[in-house]
Amino acid sequence: MSKLIINGQRALSGAAEIQGAKNSALPILAATVLTKGESVLFRCPDLSDVEASLGILRYLGCTAQRSGDAVVVKSEGLCRHDIPDGLMRKTRGSLVFLGAVLASTGRARLCFPGGCEIGLRPIDLHLKALRQLGAVVKERHGCIDCRAVHGLKGAQIALPFPSVGATEDIILAACTACGTTTITNAAREPEIRDLADYLNRCGAKIYGAGEGEIVIDGVKSLSGCNHALIPDRIVAATLISCAAMTGSEITLKGVIHSHLGAVLPVFEDAGCAFKAVENELTVKAPVKRLRPMKIVRTMPYPGFPTDAQAPLLAASTIADGTTVFIENIFENRFRHASELTRMGADIKTEGKFAVVEGVPRLYGAAVEAVDLRGAAALLAAGLSAEGRTELSGVKYLERGYERFEQVLSSLGADVKKI
Ligand code: EPZ
Repeated sequence: MSKLIINGQRALSGAAEIQGAKNSALPILAATVLTKGESVLFRCPDLSDVEASLGILRYLGCTAQRSGDAVVVKSEGLCRHDIPDGLMRKTRGSLVFLGAVLASTGRARLCFPGGCEIGLRPIDLHLKALRQLGAVVKERHGCIDCRAVHGLKGAQIALPFPSVGATEDIILAACTACGTTTITNAAREPEIRDLADYLNRCGAKIYGAGEGEIVIDGVKSLSGCNHALIPDRIVAATLISCAAMTGSEITLKGVIHSHLGAVLPVFEDAGCAFKAVENELTVKAPVKRLRPMKIVRTMPYPGFPTDAQAPLLAASTIADGTTVFIENIFENRFRHASELTRMGADIKTEGKFAVVEGVPRLYGAAVEAVDLRGAAALLAAGLSAEGRTELSGVKYLERGYERFEQVLSSLGADVKKI
């Protein structure tokens, strides 16, 4: 089990290139099973979650090879419709294979692990939508067997909640279905738009991705294409928090500012200044202490992203006042609070609420990450803390942050993996 050793209180400087978005890579890799021919995905981040998806593609009979920052997938050899338990358990993002494999082969069988580190993660919206598209779905103890022997048919699907994964699953199942599918109350995350851009380049007819209503006209077939993934807005938000917590000025390269529309104002309220030039963003932390962010509510996009809650909460622990967090998306997403408390933070959590009283400084400690974004929060806290922090549970960080300790070291941080 590797650990990160962080010696804190070093200012960061310089520039970092933002990796491709993990939450684009996972659905787009699943989408390749719908296509004939070769797809080249540029800026595909080298993450354990991506490796898990490549493993599923290879198991299904596709070829999937990394070449530099690109991944090359050929799906001619697709010959299976089941995804084994071991592969499914490696990443939650593999659920989107359900809609893609079902649409491509007429059948899909997988066992879906129930809850995970941050909540129950039900999949009722996915299964209801697939049934509306004409699939026969049997589920027993988390194992799902879907059949669409006569193919899938377009449907009107109203989501009660703008679920990202359900929206993606429906798009993947509907783009080669017979007829038109309309999704209302669809998720608007930029990764949804990125998935649709990839599929439309492959010959799909998807309109309105990124909006609340998406229309998909089913087409007969799709052929692979070249596609560059969007940058990872959550990695960008995490680096902003690292800069804010260490009184630093750094430049992020390859960001799309509009994807950070709800994130930048919160850091500006805290005293950070931003300069946006083309696809670069420079963040300068305040010389004195961060101001408290008052109230932060996580919401579906374009609201404040739940994935940026943990890194932001870390920054709020050293602000000069009180910040209240309301986590509206997942039931159990404050697990980093107890570990931050070991570093001297003053945090009280109750259900979806966390109240953070800023303290003058944090102190290095041995802390353990138990989920992906919590790991990022503890790493940011270690950069700011007085003394040495030992962070275990690095495997969680590696699910979503590509060589993050190297990125931070290149910005001047004292971070080593042992
Ligand atoms: C995606 O998860 C992301 N994962 C998550 O990122 C992100 O936090 C989340 O969207 C919200 O933005 C990937 O893209 C791989 P949801 P997903 O379906 O699709 C409930 C990270 O850190 N729900 O929008 O699972 C669900 O329980 C990860 O990178 C149902 O009730 O999110 C949750 O409370 C974590 N029934 C809420 O909706 C369903 O059928 C949001 O879930 C599906 C979801």
